[in-house]
Parts: sequence; C-alpha cells; structure tokens
Amino acid sequence: MDWLEPSPGDHIADIGSGTGLFLSRLVEVASPEAPILCVDPSQPMLDLIPDDPRLTPICATAEQIATGEVPMPVETVDAFVFKEAIHHVKDIPGTLSAMADRLNPGGRILIVSLPPRLDYPLFKAALDRFAEGQPEPDDMVKAMRSAGLTADNAIEEFTVTIDREQWLSLVGNQWMSVLSTFSQEEIAAGLEEIRDRYPESPITYRDRFAFVRGIKD
Ligand SMILES: C[S@@+](CC[C@H](N)C(=O)[O-])C[C@H]1O[C@@H](n2cnc3c(N)ncnc32)[C@H](O)[C@@H]1O
Repeated sequence: MDWLEPSPGDHIADIGSGTGLFLSRLVEVASPEAPILCVDPSQPMLDLIPDDPRLTPICATAEQIATGEVPMPVETVDAFVFKEAIHHVKDIPGTLSAMADRLNPGGRILIVSLPPRLDYPLFKAALDRFAEGQPEPDDMVKAMRSAGLTADNAIEEFTVTIDREQWLSLVGNQWMSVLSTFSQEEIAAGLEEIRDRYPESPITYRDRFAFVRGIKD
C-alpha cells in the first residue's frame, strides 16, 4: 500500500491476482464504479475470488492484457500491480513497455517479487532452481526505464517464524511452484536435508521482497 499509494477512484489491475488473497487492503479503496481488475490465466484461481462488486475477474495473461488481445473494461488504468507473478512473464521488457502505454498520466506499475536468492529453509537444489527462474530486480528497473517510466526499487524484509513440522508439511505438499518441478523421491530427500539442517522448532527465517516501481510522468 505504501509503494502503490492508491486513491479512491483509481483504476487498478492486479496482474496474476490468483485467488485475490492479498487484495483485502486494496479492495478498501475500490468501488463498483472503479473495481480492481483481477487478471489471471487460471480460471480455477479466479473462481475463488470473493463475489464482490469491487472485484472484476478477467481470465488472461499479462501479455494478453498488455497487447490488448484480451480487452480491459477501461482503455487505460492508474496502476498495474504484480505480486509474485512477474516471473511467469516471458518477455518482461516488452510486456512492461506495452503496459506503460496503457497507463494514465501519473500511473504506475508496481512489481512485488521474491529476489532470486532466497533465505528460505529449503533444500539447496530447490534454492538453486528457484534462482534460475527469477528475474533480477535491477533488470526490472532497467525495463521500467526503457519503457519511459521513472523507476525506483528497494528490498523489504519480514521475519517469518514457523513451526518446523508445519514447514516440512508445506514443503512436502510442494506449496511453491518450483517445488512442483521435483519428483516425490527428490522431495523426500530434500525433506531429509531440511531436517538435518534445521533441527530446532520453530524455524525462523528472513523473507525478502523486491519492490520495483515505475511511474509515468
Ligand atoms: C504465486 S501466484 C500469486 C498470486 C497472488 N498475486 C498472490 O500474491 O497471492 C502467481 C499467479 O500468476 C498467475 N500467472 C501465471 N502465468 C501468468 C501470466 N503469464 N500472466 C499473469 N499471471 C500469470 C498464476 O496463475 C498464479 O495465480
């Protein structure tokens, strides 16, 4: 909310909204006249968005919205938000550039993304594979600037404390998409590695998020 500074009446598109889990604060500034556009290519995720006139689900990818292949109910918006979704976009510079053209003056693109190197208590192979697929914040800043936006960024840190068994169960259930790329045998070996490395409960670790913001003059 601090990075986005939304005002009532702003037209905001949440790209890769998923189930809308993180929209409870943002929805307070929305209205039926200016609903948050919840954009996601997964219809099963969109089906879980609360039935609220301030939320409009749109089944599309970021790229389809950027190019206009799937139209939004408004031509231009005041903000595009990506929360843990930008890594799914194949051509980030091209998509951000096309989105910048769909911003109102003063509009912004806010990307909230995990940095490539995580401090999560995962097994090493998962940390390495995650890093391979995750864009660097500096590259996203460059892409914002190439799109003609004034860009800034920072890393925000949050301490997470979690019961060890709960953490092991999350990893065992492959809760992060990178974990779903490992076989059941690899997950079992990974769980052993985590048990060895983190014998105590609860487990405490640093969660870090990159915030990258581009503003249209
Ligand atoms: C990790 S979830 C984040 C969901 C939500 N923003 C949150 O923070 O709870 C990533 C979401 O991106 C969506 N996604 C996948 N490919 C996408 C694309 N090309 N454009 C936009 N969203 C995409 C997925 O369907 C998924 O819902």
